[in-house]
Amino acid sequence: MKENVKILLSEQEVDRRIEEIAGQISRDYAGQEVHLICVLKGAVFFMCELAKRITVPVTMDFMSVSSYGNDTKSSGVVKIVKDLDEPLDGKNVLIVEDIIDSGRTLSYLIEILEKRNPASLRLCTLLDKPERRIAQVTVDYTCFNIPDEFVVGYGLDYAQKYRNLPFIGVVTFSD
Ligand code: IMP
Ligand code: MG
Repeated sequence: MKENVKILLSEQEVDRRIEEIAGQISRDYAGQEVHLICVLKGAVFFMCELAKRITVPVTMDFMSVSSYGNDTKSSGVVKIVKDLDEPLDGKNVLIVEDIIDSGRTLSYLIEILEKRNPASLRLCTLLDKPERRIAQVTVDYTCFNIPDEFVVGYGLDYAQKYRNLPFIGVVTFSD
């Protein structure tokens, strides 16, 4: 099977939208600090670009949860592979995610992070596939809603490949 990648959102479109969302976050958290939590590995590129454009003081931490194997379908299994380094007590926590699909990963993450007493807990995602939702999650900041297609690039992978593409592309398969 041959894999092909077709551009869905160009680098300029993505960067322009991240700038807008960062502006909105900076206004919403004016006079406060924001603690960004990157959900590894997919959200790494997005979090860096977002953090660079936020104008209030930012701190960061990283977490890794697994919900997918080397496949394009959710396994429904979510487990913490790497936990945060810092406690969340009293912090304005903003979870930064690459994509929300079924919502299982995020609903689980939110449930465990809420128990760590943050002052506030919000969610920011680069991409959302609303049609695919199984578990209900409130998304505070969404860069793009996309159709139900498997996408790669800007941190997102297919079997660990394509994360370094500077744009968001759709993967298709041919013989
Ligand atoms: P959920 O638990 O079904 O919402 O899955 C969320 C996770 O699945 C994301 O953080 C991604 O790692 C992965 N994922 C879902 N859809 C895609 C896609 O289209 N491309 C790449 N990864 C995806
Ligand atoms: Mg992810």
